[in-house]
Amino acid sequence: MTKKFYITTPIYYVNAPPHIGHAYTTIVADVLNRFYKLMEYETFFLTGTDEHGDKIVQAAQEAGLSPKEYADKISEQFQKTWPRLNISYDYFIRTTSLKHQRVVQYVLQKVYEAGDIYFGSYRGLYCIGCERFYTERELVDGKCPDHDKPPIVREEDNYFFSMSKYQSWLIEYIEQNQNFITPERYRNEVLGFLREPLEDLCISRPKERLDWGIPLPFDDRYVTYVWFDALINYISALDYPHGELFHKFWPVAHHLIAKDILKPHAIYWPTMLKAAGIQPYQSLHVHGYWKIEEGKMSKSKGTVVRPLDLVSVYGLDAFRYFLMREMVFGLDANFSEEALIQRLNADLANDLGNLFSRTSAMVQKFSGGITPKWITPKGSAHDEDMLKKCDETKKAYVVAMEGMEFHKALIALWELINRANKYIDEVAPWELAKKGDTERLSHVLRLLLEVNHLVAVLIVPFMPDTAEEIFRRLGSPKRAFDVLWSRDATIPALKEGSPIEKGEPLFPRVDLEAWRRRKEKEVKTVEERKLISIEEFQKIELVVGTIVEAERIEKSKKLVKLKVNIGETRQVVAGIAEYYDPSELVGKQVVLVANLKPVKLMGVESYGMVLAAGGPEGLVLVSPERPIPVGAIVK
Ligand code: ME8
Ligand code: MG
Repeated sequence: MTKKFYITTPIYYVNAPPHIGHAYTTIVADVLNRFYKLMEYETFFLTGTDEHGDKIVQAAQEAGLSPKEYADKISEQFQKTWPRLNISYDYFIRTTSLKHQRVVQYVLQKVYEAGDIYFGSYRGLYCIGCERFYTERELVDGKCPDHDKPPIVREEDNYFFSMSKYQSWLIEYIEQNQNFITPERYRNEVLGFLREPLEDLCISRPKERLDWGIPLPFDDRYVTYVWFDALINYISALDYPHGELFHKFWPVAHHLIAKDILKPHAIYWPTMLKAAGIQPYQSLHVHGYWKIEEGKMSKSKGTVVRPLDLVSVYGLDAFRYFLMREMVFGLDANFSEEALIQRLNADLANDLGNLFSRTSAMVQKFSGGITPKWITPKGSAHDEDMLKKCDETKKAYVVAMEGMEFHKALIALWELINRANKYIDEVAPWELAKKGDTERLSHVLRLLLEVNHLVAVLIVPFMPDTAEEIFRRLGSPKRAFDVLWSRDATIPALKEGSPIEKGEPLFPRVDLEAWRRRKEKEVKTVEERKLISIEEFQKIELVVGTIVEAERIEKSKKLVKLKVNIGETRQVVAGIAEYYDPSELVGKQVVLVANLKPVKLMGVESYGMVLAAGGPEGLVLVSPERPIPVGAIVK
C-alpha cells in the first residue's frame, strides 16, 4: 500500500483578485505536494474559490455584475493565476458548483436528522466583512479586529448548530493529538479559546436578506451560512460520502490556512465533522501574515502585491524561493522587493548559480564536457566530508520538510551548496590539471556533478523549473514530478559519458543600485505630479481685480498691503515689495485667489492672494492680457 497525502488551501473569496498572501498559501501547498510526490506518496492537492455570501453580493454590486457573473470572473482569475506560478493542483472546487451544493445539503440534512440543528432566535453584533457574529470580548475598541469597523446589531430567527455540545470532546481530541493543530502556538491559542464556553453556531441566513447561498434542505426560506457552506468543500471535492477519493484521501487530510481563519477551521469544522459522523481531518497547519513594509496589505493604500507582476520581473523560481525562504511558517513576515532582489542575487545567482556554472565550466575545460567515471572516494578527507555533508543534508531536509519548516530545509540545502563551493576551492581542480593528475581530477569533477544533481533533486519542490533545467544540462533530463527519492536522491545518479552543458547563468543578477535609483525616481514622479481632477481645480475661485491702493508694510522687506477691487474691495498682503514699488502697482489688473482662508501677516489681515510667477529676476504679477471688468472669473 502506498503512503497517501491530501493537501488543501483555503478556498479564496472571489471578492478580490489573487494577491501575494493567496499565492503564498497555495505555493506552500504546491511545495508540500511536490515534496510528498518526491517521497513517493500518492497525493491529492485541492484549491478553489468561496463564492457565496454578503461579501460577494456587495463586491458584485460595486462591479455592476450579477453575483454569478462576478464569481465566474474572479474565480477564473484564480484558476488562471495558479498554473502561471507552476502550481499543479488536482482539483479546483467552486462552492457554486452543483456537486458541492449537493454535499452541503446532504451534510445539513444528516446533522439536522441527528438532532444537532435547531431553530431559535438570535440577537448579536455582526460584522459584514467577516460574515459572522462577534461577542463583545472578541471586539477591539468596539470594532471588528479584522475590519476595524464597528459591528452592526442584528436580530433574527435562524437555525443553530449545537456546537457547544462538542466542546469537551474537542478539547480532549486536541489534547490527545499533538499534531492536530500546528505550529504549537496556534494549538495553544485554540485551547485558549476553548477555556471559555462555546456558543452554538448560527448556520442560516433568511433569504429575504440574502439569497446568494445554498438553500437549507429542510427549510427553503433560508440559505446556509457561508462558513458552514465553505468548510464542506474539503469533502465535497472528494465526492463525499461515497467517492473513492474520499475513502482514499480523507484520512490523510492536511489543511493549510493563515491565522485569520483559525477559529472556523479549528473549532467549527471539527465539531461539524463530529456531528456528521465523519472523522476529523489529520492536521491543520497555520501560517502567519505577509505584511508590506510593516503594515497590512491594503487596497486603498496601494500596497497590494500582485504575484504575477513580480514573476514577470524576477522570474517564477526566484519568487517561489523568496516566499518559502523568507517566511518562518507560523510567524508573520515582511515583504519587500528589495529583500527579494537581495535573496535572488546572494542565494540564487551567487551560491547556487555559481556552483553550477563553476562545475560545468570545469567539466568543459578539463573533461571535454563529458561526465567522468564514478569512483567511491577513499582516503581523501575533503571527498569524504563532502559526501557526509550530502547525507546529513538529506536527513535535515526531510525532517524540516515534514515539520513544515521550509526555511530550515532551504538553509540546510544552502549549507550543502556552500560546502560544495568550498570543496572546489579546497581541491582546486585547476591545480590538479596543472599537475597532470587526471585521475584525481576526474573523480573530483564527477563528485561535484553528483552534488549538483542532488541539489537539483532537493530543489524540485521549491523551484521545479530550475531543477528540470539542471537535470537537462547534466544530461539526466526528467520532469520534476518524475523524480523519486529512493532512486534519484542517491549518489551516484548520473551516467558516465553523458554530455554536460554549461549554458547561460541559471539566475541573472539584478543590479540593486540601479533598481534603487529607478525606485527613487518613480517615487518622486508620483509625489511631485499629484494629478488633480477638474472638479478639484474648480474649487479654487480665481477672479480678476484692479489694485486701488498699495503701501509697504513697516518693518517688512517683502510685504505690501494691497486693496483690490473685485466688485468689492479686498485687503490682500502680497510678497512682492522687492520687485514692485507701491506707486506702480495702483491701477494694475491682477488675478486673485478669492476663497483662501484669511491669514494675518506681520499683524495685517489678508483675504486672498494675488498670483505671481517666479521668473529669473523674481516675482512677476499675473495680469489679464487685455483690460477686463473686475470680478471676471478666471477658469
Ligand atoms: O477567508 N498573508 O478567504 P480569503 C498570508 N473564503 N496569507 C494571506 C494573506 C496575507 N497577508 N492574506 C490572505 C477566506 N492570505 C475564506 C476561506 S476556507 C473553507 C474559506 C491567505 O480570500 C491565507 O491563506 O479571505 C488566508 O487564510 C486566506 O488567504 C484567506 O483568504
Ligand atoms: Mg479574508
